[in-house]
Amino acid sequence: MGPRGTGTGPESVPLVAPTPLWYRAPMRVAILSDIHANLEALEAVLREVDRAEVDRVVCLGDVVGYGASPEECCRILMDREIPTLLGNHDAAVTGAMDEGYYYEGARRALQWTREHLSPATYQWLYSLPFCMLEQDVGFFHSAPILPSGFFYVVQVPEAQTHLQVLDRLKPVSFIGHSHLTLAFALGPKKVPLIVLFDTTHGTSSETRGAKWLRIRCSM
Ligand SMILES: [Fe+2]
Repeated sequence: MGPRGTGTGPESVPLVAPTPLWYRAPMRVAILSDIHANLEALEAVLREVDRAEVDRVVCLGDVVGYGASPEECCRILMDREIPTLLGNHDAAVTGAMDEGYYYEGARRALQWTREHLSPATYQWLYSLPFCMLEQDVGFFHSAPILPSGFFYVVQVPEAQTHLQVLDRLKPVSFIGHSHLTLAFALGPKKVPLIVLFDTTHGTSSETRGAKWLRIRCSM
């Protein structure tokens, strides 16, 4: 009998077992959010993303607003076909949200942005979804309890309201909008267990089985 895996006869044994259908390889996902038309920051982050050779990139929205390069930032996401959500600034620029929500300076930035977008980019922004739901993970710009409401999740009570919809949440929900890095663990069995972390998550007996709301997390 020849070396394992090299023979062609019935006695040969493959070195690598066939992958079972149920097996899902771990995937590395880079999650961007709240670019706010900052081209230099986006390019720097994407350089790191490319260096890290991640499997996927997702953008949680607010590509425009405030910054000086809305068209360029949108173009990069469009060209790379990065799945992107609708942020509140994106919605306001396209007229899908009342500008009364914003203070004067932000409103002027929205108007300026509107005047500096190509028709194709405007259409792309208009077409973006509020959220993306996958098997084990949800992506949102703002509070998952009502994605179109653009509510923040930065305080414990705001996370706590999500106990009402715990059965509809995926095990992990990624949220942008606040420009903060936080994580909340919503306890199983409707227990209002909410734990705040900074940039990393822990797996303690308290949080095992919990559903997570992760706010503006990096890779
Ligand atoms: Fe936002």
